[in-house]
Amino acid sequence: MSKTLSGSGDDSTLPAIGLGTYRLRGRRGADAVVSAVRTGYRLIDSAFSYENEGSVSDGVARAIAEGLASRAELIVTSKVPGRHFGYEQTLAAVEESAARMRSIGAIDLYLIHWPNPEQNKYVDTWRALIEARERALVRHIGVSNFLPEHIDRIEAATGVLPAVNQIESHPRFPNTEQIAYDAERGITTEAWSPIGRGSDLLADPLIGEVAAAHGVTAAQAVLAWHMARGVVPIPKSSSAGRQAENLAAAAIILDPAEVETISSLGRPDGRLAGQDPAVYEEM
Ligand SMILES: NC(=O)c1ccc[n+]([C@@H]2O[C@H](COP(=O)([O-])OP(=O)(O)OC[C@H]3O[C@@H](n4cnc5c(N)ncnc54)[C@H](OP(=O)(O)O)[C@@H]3O)[C@@H](O)[C@H]2O)c1
Repeated sequence: MSKTLSGSGDDSTLPAIGLGTYRLRGRRGADAVVSAVRTGYRLIDSAFSYENEGSVSDGVARAIAEGLASRAELIVTSKVPGRHFGYEQTLAAVEESAARMRSIGAIDLYLIHWPNPEQNKYVDTWRALIEARERALVRHIGVSNFLPEHIDRIEAATGVLPAVNQIESHPRFPNTEQIAYDAERGITTEAWSPIGRGSDLLADPLIGEVAAAHGVTAAQAVLAWHMARGVVPIPKSSSAGRQAENLAAAAIILDPAEVETISSLGRPDGRLAGQDPAVYEEM
């Protein structure tokens, strides 16, 4: 399953699953990206704040040079952090990202990392991303951690909806209402920390039961749960074996009762680090 990116004027699609890269930096980060593309990943996450735009794009460029994928098949993402919000500041930040990622040409997908409502600059930041897309610095634009009120506001101000909203979602915090809101507007939802970022989530007995019924691992069952909900998970792994394990989850189909079983682990306070975008600010 793949997802067409809305509002783009071209026919780009997102694959069913992508690679997270938080904490993958330097030579090791680039090697992990090459390994991921070799395994079959075509969507690679990154961010200005992860300090890995250079190693991610170098890994992608190496993978292309090795014939592991064509440039056109790959979607490389980055994000602008709060410390660079504001119209001129964001355009300069996108230019910095583009310079660090010059080995791959235009950035495929560029997101606003957090809305930072108290800072109250995300509308001008969105205007800058629209301009960056017009200048062909980036091909698609979107947001991350945006609530309905934030998306409504940028749409009212500019008439332009994001192609993607990348949000926290995992069985302990399914974020179902935000996913429904995005879907109604043709916005693709990506899930960050999709397998719970090394917490004890994967040891949960209910997830274990669903996994056992399919003869798959807990991580694969959780990733299949995301895909059954129409969400693109972006699990991070530095290991070639776990990258392959995670990508193979795209072939697993859960039935509605299994999806419900995993969703039943959700709790209103289930966010991994309490980062509620209504109040959390990240620079
Ligand atoms: N937009 C945002 O605000 C935001 C916030 C957080 C994250 N993100 C993005 O989302 C990506 C994913 O989130 P995340 O890194 O926080 O968490 P995650 O992908 O849920 O979990 C990553 C952790 O799980 C381990 N792992 C990977 N595959 C596994 C498997 N099959 N079985 C067991 N353990 C496995 C990884 O270890 P190994 O590497 O050793 O395999 C790593 O410790 C990030 O890397 C980043 O790109 C975005």
